[in-house]
Order: sequence, then structure tokens, then C-alpha cells
Amino acid sequence: MKKVIIDCDPGIDDSLALILALKSPELDVIGLTICAGNVPVELGGVNAYRVLNLLNRKDIPIYLGDNKPMKRELVTAQDTHGEDGLGEVLPEIDIPESAIQLGAVDYLIKTLKSNEDVSIIALGPMTNLAKAVEREKDILKSAERIVSMGGAFRTNGNCSQVAEFNYWVDPESVNIVFQNVVKPIELIPLDVTRKIVLTPNYREYLKQMKNDIAQFIYLVTGFYVDFHWMQERTLGCVINDPLAVAYFINPDLCNGFLTNLECVENGVAIGQSLIDIGDFYKRDKNVFINTIVDEKEFFNLFFNRVFPENLKDNETVLKEY
Ligand code: RIB
Ligand code: CA
Repeated sequence: MKKVIIDCDPGIDDSLALILALKSPELDVIGLTICAGNVPVELGGVNAYRVLNLLNRKDIPIYLGDNKPMKRELVTAQDTHGEDGLGEVLPEIDIPESAIQLGAVDYLIKTLKSNEDVSIIALGPMTNLAKAVEREKDILKSAERIVSMGGAFRTNGNCSQVAEFNYWVDPESVNIVFQNVVKPIELIPLDVTRKIVLTPNYREYLKQMKNDIAQFIYLVTGFYVDFHWMQERTLGCVINDPLAVAYFINPDLCNGFLTNLECVENGVAIGQSLIDIGDFYKRDKNVFINTIVDEKEFFNLFFNRVFPENLKDNETVLKEY
């Protein structure tokens, strides 16, 4: 099992990523750190707790980071994920006082300093990671792997013509992180996540399953599907973050190349991830950017990990599909 800290901003697709991670025997999710992004950080903590509660994993600690990016004001994506961040379909939930703590940056530093075998799967703006670097410059060099869902290379942005949300929310944090790693960050950008569409077919399959996790996914993705139809006439919804988890488990799902990434911090292209594929500036290779993905294999892995009891049906559905 690989020890991972998942830094996230739940968020509908973050919640699916957490479900996949918690249902995958390859991963030992030792803690969740919450960043402000899709929703304000407090709400992200509540939503993370909802998923841990659903999976009977309330043993996993949740730590909140700051509620704003390094330099900019927080702009959330509640238009996409719903005011509550999980599609506005779930009942209120009582959360014990001790379930959600502050100190995401302290936790990251403490854990990375005392373990050589912890990896980070980053599914939101990189604020927490950057603040850890500001406190301990070399801290991320202790991470075994860092996988980040973010950026866009040869595809348009989802926050502007060129910027992807996670990197657009806090561009300064992206540069602090990418300039202070020793091993290349493994990037899962929109170029590959746009291929991961939870289609009506898959959602109907979930709806037909008599399974509380399937019903949770079906329910929370409804708002997200409506947004995708209104915004970009997509039928279904792009589930970005689960691909980062699936890739962590099986890197053969994707492929790409080593290069340098820098994030634009000002002006009309703010948040754009600049990929120096021509090596014009001869900078260090701080990123392995994935540009191709086997989406069918992703869904194989997703359904077989999350619903192992339905394996027989999975095969039927996946073969037909
Ligand atoms: O641009 C997509 C990313 O931004 C995903 O991680 C989504 O959850 C939001 O955080
Ligand atoms: Ca996210």
C-alpha cells in the first residue's frame, strides 16, 4: 500500500476521487488536507467528512487550510458544484467538533518530515502546498510522488480561454510548488481529464445499482451534468479528479513527456500553464505532463475498484458500452 495525503477542494469530482481512493487497496489514505477552491475551505471540510462518513472511514483526519489563495481573492466554482459543493441534493449532516481540524500546512510539514514514503495527490488549488514550501523550502522534496490535477496544454481552459480552475484560482502557489520540487510533478491536465466523461449510460448504471455509494454518485453528479449541458453542451459530466487517483494507482493509464511548467500570474492569460515543449528557456524538467489517456481502462478501474461486488455486471455493462 502507498501512503497518500489527498489535498482537495470537495467539490463533486473531488468526492468521486476520494471514493475511488478509499476503495482502492493500493492506497493508504493517511489524511485529507482541504484547500479553498470549488467551495470555501470550511465547506470543503464538511464535504470531505460526508464522503468519509459514507465510506465508514471517519478514522481519517481532515485538516483545513486557509480560506484564500496566496495573493488573490477566492473565486469559488459553486456555479458548477452547487452552493453546498455537492450538487445541492444531500440532507444536513451533524459533524462532531473534533472531526475537522485546522492546520493543513502544519500537518503536511509534520507528515512529510517524518516519513519518506508519503505521496501527495493534489486535486485543488495548490495553496496548502505552497504555504508549506514558504515555511520549509525543501519540504516537497520529501514527497515520494506528487500528482496534480490541473493546468491545460493543447486544450482550452475552463476558467478562461487558456486557464484551468485549480491553477487559475491561485497561480502564485503553482509557481512556488513547481519551483521547489526535485522530482517532476506528475500532471493530469484538462487535456486528459476532458476524455473522462461520466455519461448518461454510466449514470443510469449507477442509478440501477442498489448501492449507497452508487446512489451518492448518481445524486451529487446531477447538478454537475446540468452545468455541463448549459455550459458546453456536454451530455454527462467531466470527472477530472478521479483520473488523478486512478493514474496514481496505475500510471499506465496515461502517457506524456517531461518538460517545464510555469504558471502565468498576471494579465489576460492569468492561470495559464505554460508548457515549454520546445525547451526554449532550458529550464529544469519540473513536470511530467500526461497528454494521452485510455479512458475505457479508467472506467474499468473505477467501477471495479468502487463496485467490486458488481464485477459480473461491470463486465457486462463495460463490454456492451
Ligand atoms: O478544473 C477542474 C478542477 O478544478 C477539478 O479539480 C475541480 O474539482 C476543480 O477543483
Ligand atoms: Ca478539485
